[in-house]
Amino acid sequence: MTTILDGKSLSKRVIEEVALDVITYLEKGLRAPSLAVVMVGEDPASAVYVRNKIRACKNAKIDSHEYRLPAKSKEKELLDVIKFLNNDSDIDAILLQLPLPKHIKEANILREISPEKDVDGFHPLNTGNLFLGRDSIQPCTPRGIMMLFEAYDIPISGRNAVVIGRSNIVGKPVAHLLLQKDATVTICHSKTEGLKSIVKNADIVVSAVGKANFVKGSWIKEGATVIDVGMNEYDGGFVGDVDFEEASENAEFITPVPGGVGPMTIASLMLNTLSCYKRNLKNIKKQK
Ligand code: GUN
Repeated sequence: MTTILDGKSLSKRVIEEVALDVITYLEKGLRAPSLAVVMVGEDPASAVYVRNKIRACKNAKIDSHEYRLPAKSKEKELLDVIKFLNNDSDIDAILLQLPLPKHIKEANILREISPEKDVDGFHPLNTGNLFLGRDSIQPCTPRGIMMLFEAYDIPISGRNAVVIGRSNIVGKPVAHLLLQKDATVTICHSKTEGLKSIVKNADIVVSAVGKANFVKGSWIKEGATVIDVGMNEYDGGFVGDVDFEEASENAEFITPVPGGVGPMTIASLMLNTLSCYKRNLKNIKKQK
């Protein structure tokens, strides 16, 4: 029997819980948590992601503030916005939607976001803490994936986990989180040789490649857990990296696309914003 991991309903539940938590603060007369979403340029996929994030904020009772800069903006102009948000004590969390236009170096901007407001966990300090297994803000997609494992009670310890893709946003951080849960982790990428046989040996497969139907169903071991991070335009709709129909025949657990990992990324964003808010409130109290 294959279980489809329902990210959509789990995300809804998590967001409802965030809203209930926020209400307890509002009832004490405190302001709502606030998230600043910064987007540079007009990338259509990013525009959809940003719209979904802003919508989720409403459901979570989080205030959102959108900052849109033209694609031609200079690095300095973006840095000025980030610095302004860093210094605004009414902003708890800052999200810089990626990718940025090619002429802006992501690393130059990400390292300037205050680590305490870095809701994506992309600042080198937060990345380093994650690497060290210390408490840190976890990137949203990896955190969402781990919540699916927990909600469905999927064992990780001692399992062979194969992560396909080595991005800073998903591949590397999810590999670390799986390692922290005692999986034996292999990270595969575009230069990996013998990918099919590596996947065939995996109890857990996380695919974050960005290519429609890249992972064939026949590669999946009987009883494996398949997490599909891909969101690829295909035939007028969206499909993941994994051939869902075929893979479901072998997998014990599998995420659908859409409705699997995507909503969990957003749920994590709400949780991370709430954490930034709680920490910010404590800092403000200390300063008084
Ligand atoms: N672009 C694609 N995924 C993400 C994400 O999780 N966070 C941000 N900031 N940008 C993204």
